[in-house]
Amino acid sequence: QQITEEVVAFSVPSYACQRRTTLENHNMVLTDALSLLAENAELSEEDGRGVAFRRAAAVLKCLPEPVRSMAQLRGLPCLGDHSLRVIKEILETGASSEVESMRESERYKALKVLTGIFGVGAKTADRWIREGIQDLQQLRDSEQTLNRAQQAGLEHYHDLNQLVTKAEADAISEIMERTVISVLPGAQMTLIGGFRRGKQTGHDIDFLITHPEEGREEGLMSKVVSCLEAQGFLLYQKTTRNSYLESSSGPGRPSSNMDRFERCFSIFKLAKEDKRGETLMEDGAKTLNGDPGSHSPSSGQSQASGDRKRASEDGAKDKPSKHKRWRAVRVDLVVSPISQFAFALLGWTGSKLFERELRRWAGHERSMSLSSHALFDSKQGRYLRATSEEEIFAHLGLEFIPPSERNA
Ligand code: GTP
Ligand code: MN
Ligand code: MN
Repeated sequence: QQITEEVVAFSVPSYACQRRTTLENHNMVLTDALSLLAENAELSEEDGRGVAFRRAAAVLKCLPEPVRSMAQLRGLPCLGDHSLRVIKEILETGASSEVESMRESERYKALKVLTGIFGVGAKTADRWIREGIQDLQQLRDSEQTLNRAQQAGLEHYHDLNQLVTKAEADAISEIMERTVISVLPGAQMTLIGGFRRGKQTGHDIDFLITHPEEGREEGLMSKVVSCLEAQGFLLYQKTTRNSYLESSSGPGRPSSNMDRFERCFSIFKLAKEDKRGETLMEDGAKTLNGDPGSHSPSSGQSQASGDRKRASEDGAKDKPSKHKRWRAVRVDLVVSPISQFAFALLGWTGSKLFERELRRWAGHERSMSLSSHALFDSKQGRYLRATSEEEIFAHLGLEFIPPSERNA
């Protein structure tokens, strides 16, 4: 009697926005490997390759069980030759030689460390590496000029490379909520980004702010930032103002993925709690050398020259201090008018790949153009309104996928 092992191939729709991807990943070994290849491609400014690996990883993330054989992958979308080769080697030997040697390579390690500095992207890191800078100490010893973001990034390097916990996100949410309501009663604040998708940790915390009356949100960002600053919560902030209506292309052209809301990239000073659960903000602010203003010689200086300084001027400030009773946390704020709220909410909840796939679906499958501001239907030549995420999915002809299942 012949026993044939039945191979049940997985079946998966090709766009990530057609799939439900929870945080439960049965193929972590495979997806970590592909994500590393994606990351390396992105760090090398090969974005096309990066997306290809991200798509391949996303397909494996939504499978209901661990992959055991290559046969199960037959017919799956988005798995290119390169990804399949990596998967095969891992299934056969437990690891991918390409991924392992990349992980150990000097270039990858240097790119990782340098882009780990807030404000440093792949281009800058690459330039520094070509100039012989491989790590933080070499950067400090160099004569490189750093902008204000990079100075803050270097100063708070250690803290900003620790994952933010859900508890910290909740603590900052509370502070934010209080602040937002105090500067504009009736304003509404929503947690977005990874924490809205149910992640337990993240690299930052993202908030979307609006007001139920159109127009009332104008000027809100600067008030919120001033109020946070007055309370001593901000170690760094850079606000970029809304340019959606004033841009030359106007609201009629949501073709660019660039977001044009008023937004703020910040570094928050979060007090750690003592054993009795009391926050130590006051204490910490007074006694620590990380106190904003107490050590920054360039802080009252004007514009260009004050914004830049030598890397060597930042001592070894990222070292964790035993007595430090606060920590630096990256926080992103976005303000949207209520008329665009649903689009902003959908656009800023992520994951990044899910967003990219939504826009690709809209364009390729529906001749529509989706941004974080609006949805334009090219066939009808008009904008489609929506007051909820559900309506946007419906306009796009997609089944609604809740935030917790957008972890592609
Ligand atoms: P962690 O922070 O690592 O937990 O992941 P995250 O998913 O929260 O990522 P991140 O904070 O980088 O971004 C949150 C969401 O905002 C993602 O969906 C991004 O696509 C989106 N996002 C980030 N920057 C921009 C931008 O400049 N424009 C728009 N429209 N969206 C952005
Ligand atoms: Mn985030
Ligand atoms: Mn963010």
